[in-house]
Amino acid sequence: MMRDPWLSATGPVLCVVGARPNFMKMAPILRALATHDPALPALLVHTGQHYDADMNDQLFSGLGLPRPDVNLEVGSGTHAVQTAEVMRRFEPVLDANRPSCVLVVGDVNSTLACTLVAAKKGVPVAHVEAGLRSFDRSMPEEINRVLTDQIADLLYTTERAAHENIAREGIDVSRAHFVGNVMIDSLLVNRPLAVPAAETLRRAGIEPSVFDVTRGYGVVTLHRPANVDQAETLGPLLAVLRAISERLPLLLALHPRTRANIERFGLHGEVSGKRIAALPPQGYLEMLGLMSGATLVLTDSGGMQEETTALGVPCLTLRENTERPITIEQGTNTLVGRDRGAIERAVDQILSGGGKRGRVPEFWDGRAAERIAAHLAAWLARRRVEMGT
Ligand code: UD1
Repeated sequence: MMRDPWLSATGPVLCVVGARPNFMKMAPILRALATHDPALPALLVHTGQHYDADMNDQLFSGLGLPRPDVNLEVGSGTHAVQTAEVMRRFEPVLDANRPSCVLVVGDVNSTLACTLVAAKKGVPVAHVEAGLRSFDRSMPEEINRVLTDQIADLLYTTERAAHENIAREGIDVSRAHFVGNVMIDSLLVNRPLAVPAAETLRRAGIEPSVFDVTRGYGVVTLHRPANVDQAETLGPLLAVLRAISERLPLLLALHPRTRANIERFGLHGEVSGKRIAALPPQGYLEMLGLMSGATLVLTDSGGMQEETTALGVPCLTLRENTERPITIEQGTNTLVGRDRGAIERAVDQILSGGGKRGRVPEFWDGRAAERIAAHLAAWLARRRVEMGT
């Protein structure tokens, strides 16, 4: 392909974040690019896919992320509108900054949108957390993963199974590099700073006399459309949680989508009471504190399946599949879907026997971002030679 004359092999690495799960992945990468010798200049672009203070500011500051150099402020919309709006607003940022490459993380709409824009302009794309597959194309994230990996130049992976997935889709496996898990880099750096659960509750106005975390508790997050968008699904799920809370008090950190649907379906009664507390979305250090002290975690989040594996806390995943199989094979994760019996049996096992303890997977060692910086620096240096710049 003819390269545009403005293509640069010396420009900054344009790092893209859009939504909450991107932030904890990008923080260690930015640090590693800055501390690499020589430093790799980087710019941080926030697409603004997530914009609430709860979903955004609190997380940014908790992770020590720098203020974004550019905020595209796209906000919410249908998938088509959001993806298109990110693309439309990202293109002039590429033109103005002439990056040596675009670095995207994860599987959100912003990941795919920025990858598409860059790839069509001949700007190399590095995808961090590549190759994960749930094999469930009803998940928007799965579409984002499959398409991003097809057109990205560098695929940095968190687990070896990702390489088989990539090969199966006809992608040149020499583009894939096993570097480990940047999410765990963040976790290991921030663990000593985690906010104790009792403190988080106190800040939410919940006294220890009402909810005593020292006697064991579970943490719950739910936000996948498949779990929360229909009353017939969300209602029974909340009813199971209420039943579990009779035996183990539960703390729910509610995503705005879930909170809105609970209101809309009139389910508020299911998540209030002495043994079940609904909190707003939590900051990173608060969530880390909540998970670290928990007896178990019930979630449909991708990242929390990995974080609980790293923390050695049993995790029950309220989905039929996972794109992160290593958390089941080696870690503390169990898939329980939405079936009441399966969920209750798994909870029983944990309450009676402590549950899976697992082990920490290979390269989930706090150095994944360093590996990415080292590889990317060498790759860009070779490219500079090839381009004669
Ligand atoms: C997105 C990601 C998902 C990720 C999740 C984590 C995609 C396809 N999905 O899903 O992978 O796990 O973020 O949070 O990119 N809303 C707010 N404030 C915000 C953001 C959203 O109120 O800051 C509301 C929106 O109005 C919308 C709902 O929450 O109604 C969903 O937000 P959206 O960003 O569309 O998708 P998520 O479900 O958050």
